[in-house]
Amino acid sequence: MAKIIDGKAFAEGLRGRIAKAVDVLKSKHGFTPGLAVVLVGEDPASKVYVANKAKQTVEVGMNSWEHRLPAETSEKDLLAMVERLNADPAVDGILVQLPLPKHIDSTKVLTAIAPAKDVDGFHVVNVGKLSTGQDSLVPCTPVGSVMLARDVLGKLDGVEAVVIGRSNIVGKPVAQLLLAENCTVTIAHSRTKDLPGVVRRADLVIAAVGRPEMVKGDWLKPGATVIDVGINRIERDGKGKLVGDCDFASCEKVAGAITPVPGGVGPMTIACLLYNTVKAACAARGINQPEM
Ligand code: GUN
Repeated sequence: MAKIIDGKAFAEGLRGRIAKAVDVLKSKHGFTPGLAVVLVGEDPASKVYVANKAKQTVEVGMNSWEHRLPAETSEKDLLAMVERLNADPAVDGILVQLPLPKHIDSTKVLTAIAPAKDVDGFHVVNVGKLSTGQDSLVPCTPVGSVMLARDVLGKLDGVEAVVIGRSNIVGKPVAQLLLAENCTVTIAHSRTKDLPGVVRRADLVIAAVGRPEMVKGDWLKPGATVIDVGINRIERDGKGKLVGDCDFASCEKVAGAITPVPGGVGPMTIACLLYNTVKAACAARGINQPEM
């Protein structure tokens, strides 16, 4: 049976190290890093995410600002808010919660965020820096996924990795990070032929497709490390349940190590957002980032 990778515990440890770094920045350098989160509309899942982000930001000792705007906010007004946050020296990180209402062009809004404050790592400047191997702000879920993989496997040099999914938020950036770690990377997706055969080559599987329980145990090379990024809400036996993109029951019998859902990659995302905020705050002031 596979080792269960405890992302919740790993994220707690990381948040502890971030809190210590924030203490050092306050006592030695005299400033407090700050994160501004903008939520447009009333999406219930987004409200939960944003509340959790604010709570954890305060818990590690940083400043947190929550800007809640009505669903009918115009693109122009949202862009004006982003400009105000760009210009505010107390704000080190800006996150505009996705999805945005349909009348707002998300790309335009994400591109309006100053790259140095783009703690989501979604701005084209940060995407370009990541893909050319320059230091940048990197999307949070991919960073958290690679941290967990490294915790299990140590150095990832030469590891055969298969990423399932090619989104801008997870699939593409996680593939770039694995490449930077010297993995041999395959990006599989909905048009991939013989997906089980491709996945069976992998020592490391990163599943980020958003299809509940799609990856089965008999798709895996025995002993493979499985990082399941999916969070899918399904009905089972008349009850709501969260499941990943991997069929946990069959995968845990074949994998060497696997992340559960919930409690795997999920908790890593906000911890990495806090990490990015500290990184942005230090870069803005030209000081070395404390150990985290
Ligand atoms: N909505 C769901 N996940 C995310 C995320 O990581 N960043 C932003 N901005 N919105 C999201």
